[in-house]
Order: sequence, then structure tokens, then C-alpha cells
Amino acid sequence: MSRRAPCGLVRGLFAEVSEKVPQIYLDNAATSFPKPEAVYQAIEHCLRRVGASAGRGGYRLALKADEIVYRARSALARLFNVKDASRIVFTANATESLNLAIKGLVGPGDHVVTSSMEHNAVWRCLKTLERDQGVEPTIVPCAADGTLAPEAVEGALRPNTRLIVLTHASNVTGTIMPVAEVGEIARRHGIPFLVDAAQTAGVLPIDVERDRIDLLAFTGHKGLLGPFGTGGLYIREGFEPRPLKEGGTGSESRLPYQPQTLPERYEAGTLNVCGLAGLAAGVEFILNEGVEKIRAKEKSLTRHALEALADVEGAEIYGPKDAERQVGLISFNLAGVDGVEVAYVLDEVYGIMVRVGLHCAPLAHQTIGTLDRGTVRVSLGYFNTFADLDYLGEALQSINRQIRGGG
Ligand code: ALA
Repeated sequence: MSRRAPCGLVRGLFAEVSEKVPQIYLDNAATSFPKPEAVYQAIEHCLRRVGASAGRGGYRLALKADEIVYRARSALARLFNVKDASRIVFTANATESLNLAIKGLVGPGDHVVTSSMEHNAVWRCLKTLERDQGVEPTIVPCAADGTLAPEAVEGALRPNTRLIVLTHASNVTGTIMPVAEVGEIARRHGIPFLVDAAQTAGVLPIDVERDRIDLLAFTGHKGLLGPFGTGGLYIREGFEPRPLKEGGTGSESRLPYQPQTLPERYEAGTLNVCGLAGLAAGVEFILNEGVEKIRAKEKSLTRHALEALADVEGAEIYGPKDAERQVGLISFNLAGVDGVEVAYVLDEVYGIMVRVGLHCAPLAHQTIGTLDRGTVRVSLGYFNTFADLDYLGEALQSINRQIRGGG
């Protein structure tokens, strides 16, 4: 067992450090920062120069708002290889998209298969349906590095399985899941396949045709480089989840119920037009750079970060520890030090921002054996550099020296 520093010890050791520290953001799995310049400009332009609501008016500014929404939808359709952009509906975030898909597709007596690496957006949703509606979830166990055997998913299927839901990559270990293989299994058994792309949209190639994804939940503010409050759900033709909400769509207003047409059916209420302006700019940035290039950079940064962490005495790294098999996020703990203390010192002393704790994914922490203490998570973005990661390594080495009395 590792020696644990009593709470407050680390803070005391670093009490006299200068406030003039660089600011290095390594929490891109929570939200990407900074955004491309074009994203800031698009949002400002929309708020100052467009201002009107989309789908509600015929005057010129309203049509400009429609155009912004159309641009965002079309860019996303290109990115995910969606043939009909109207099958992408906008939501506030991946959590709302997952709720819409799961609650809209399953009901009393239905069985759902998922993995033990899911975020609370999936797990709490399923647990609530289990408690309130008798939905039966099966959690397929993953290995200690977060990997999932596709055949275990197939083995968990039952005659009443109505949905398979799987994260594309864990937000705790970065482990990339076998989405294409599970997609093939789902298609062969005629079961809808829902993928949580919160950590992968914009950073891993996603092709809903190739990977046989029936529903794809994504957020706008992480890898897609857009602002908070944007996200969406791709719904394959032939799948009709019940809407989560009813209300005005700006169309067929005499109808007492939601229109059947997409995207209106799932987009009741005024759209976040300026958020979508930013999202469109973020996705266009990604399309211009190319997801392959973004992934290649992320892989080299991940490799560099893994090497820097491996050099830190007492660092226990979780997950695949292989840039090919994970997205750009790494969880670790330092022997003998509480993760909260590590994160605090990284921020206070070195200006390095990371996320610590359970990352809203207790199932994943249970799987990797860190439910009791959580982990420190470093998550990389397109604008990070090798120098950032060298500096992280030096900071952790220095914390180690202080803790272990090396001076
Ligand atoms: N926003 C969540 C995280 O930080 C999912 O991992």
C-alpha cells in the first residue's frame, strides 16, 4: 500500500511559491480550451449582427439564423458521414442526447446492454429506468485497463434486448472501445446501437455507416471545439425515439402534437443559434484540418505525456498506456499523495489545470480499481504542445521530491 499524505501536507510544503506561473490547460476532456479564433468570431458575429431566432421568421435576419443552423448541421453530417443532415437533431449536450435516445427507445420489460466504463449520463439514466420502469440493464465488465471484449456484449444479449449503448472512449482512461465490432453484432441481431461520442467526436474518425451506428450522441464543447450548451443526436432513418420534450417548432403549429418530421420533432423551443454558430465554426475548423491530422497530433501528444508520466517515481498510470488504443487523456495517481492535493499543487504552484476525482463515472473507477480514491486526469487538446507535457512531468517530479524529502 502506498503512503498517503495527510490532507494539507502538500499545501503546507508549497506555501511560499510565486504566483507568477504559466497557465497550462490540461482538462480538455471536461471541455476544450482554447477554441479556434473563428469560433469566438462566429459567436460574436451571431450575437451582434444576426440576433434573430431560427425557424420562426421570413425576414432577412431570420433567414441568416436559419443559414447558421443549416451550416452547423451540414458540417456535422460531413464529419460523421451522415447522408441526410436532417437526421441530426440539436440538443444542449451529450447528456441530453443520451437521455433522449435511451428514454425514447426503451420501456417497461426491456433489456439494455452496456459496458462497465460508462459515464453517469448513461448509467444513471439506466438505473433510473430500472427503478421506475423495470428496465433491465446488463453491465458487461471491462478489463482493468478499460478494454471491452465485443464477444462479451454478444453473450449478454437476450430476446428482449432493445438497445446496446456504448461509450466510444472512456472519459477516465481514454480507452477506445470496439465500436465497429459491437456495431456489427448489433446489426446482426437487429438491436439499435447507441454510441456516446462525448470524448471522441472531432478527435477520432467517426463514420456512422462504416461503424453501423444507429444513434450517435455528441457534445459540441469538447473535441468539436464549439461552445457550451451545444450538442446533438444522430438518429438513423427507421428509428423513432419518443421526444424528451414537446413544444413550439415553428412549423405545423395547428397540430396538437409534435410534427413527425426531423429535425423539428426533437427540437421544441428556440434553438441556441449563436452556440450553433460557434459549433459550425469549430466543426469547419476540424474539417479543414482533417480528423486524421488531429488524431495523429493527439497520438503524439499522448505518447509524450505517457513517457513524461512514466518517468515520475511512484506514478501509477491507468488505462491502456498505449496512444494507439486511447484518446488523449490519462488517469494516474502518485503513490502516497491524495489526488486532490496533487491537482491543487499543479494548479496553485505550476499553473497546470487537471481534473481529479471520479469524473462522473464511478462504474469506470470501479472497473480500474480506483473507486475509493479517484484519479488525477490529464486530458490533451489540439493546442497543447510537447513543452506543456515536459513541464507537467517536471512539476510532478518536483512534487515527488518535496513529498519524499529530496529537497
Ligand atoms: N465532462 C465530463 C468529464 O470531465 C464527462 O469527463
